[in-house]
Amino acid sequence: MAKANLEQLPPTLFERLDDSPDTKFYQEPRFVAHIDEKTIGALSAFYREILFNGADVLDLMSSWISHLPQDPPLGIVAGLGMNAAELAANPRLTDRVVHDLNADPILPYAAGAFDFVFIAVSIQYLVRPIEVFKEIARVLRAGGQVIVSTSHRCFPTKAIRAFHETGPQDRIQLITEYIRRAGGFRGAEFLDRSPGGVDPLWLICGTRK
Ligand SMILES: C[S@@+](CC[C@H](N)C(=O)[O-])C[C@H]1O[C@@H](n2cnc3c(N)ncnc32)[C@H](O)[C@@H]1O
Repeated sequence: MAKANLEQLPPTLFERLDDSPDTKFYQEPRFVAHIDEKTIGALSAFYREILFNGADVLDLMSSWISHLPQDPPLGIVAGLGMNAAELAANPRLTDRVVHDLNADPILPYAAGAFDFVFIAVSIQYLVRPIEVFKEIARVLRAGGQVIVSTSHRCFPTKAIRAFHETGPQDRIQLITEYIRRAGGFRGAEFLDRSPGGVDPLWLICGTRK
């Protein structure tokens, strides 16, 4: 895909094979892991590096597993996702909200409520990402971080066209563009924490101004 296309974000990038309301697709819980165990381990290890004692965390696009390390002890761990049973089964969450970000990108949280916002292996399902990232900037405290982790698996009918038609480099550029366009961030940093021989782990990290 042409670089200019990724920078201009034409609406066609966000088309999906199944454009019916997401509530239908996520009606039934899926108690499955979406990346390999070693990749989950690498993500947890990264979270352990950046989290601090008492940090308030928003796990956006959450499910029954948040990949958070056992320590340090955290403050609020809010989970927002599409399936109530999955969220109810997630032992790390202190707060649970079922909310369709594609229908309504406004986050149901106060400004400056969190130190971290994590989006784990789910970014490819957002059709209004800039609006969501503006909201992420709003709910993050100054110096807070958004961490988008990506790999190469997806629910094909629900992933946006851009993720089907581009390779990893372009996807990373696209996510970086979301953060840049949203405003409120110092920029975005890319980290490759792929363990090797299993699902890759690519991280895009934005720091709130
Ligand atoms: C591949 S799963 C990943 C779940 C979890 N983050 C993980 O790492 O295992 C995709 C998640 O995205 C969430 N999701 C998909 N579409 C969404 C939407 N429109 N609004 C909010 N969450 C959504 C679903 O609830 C689902 O839990």
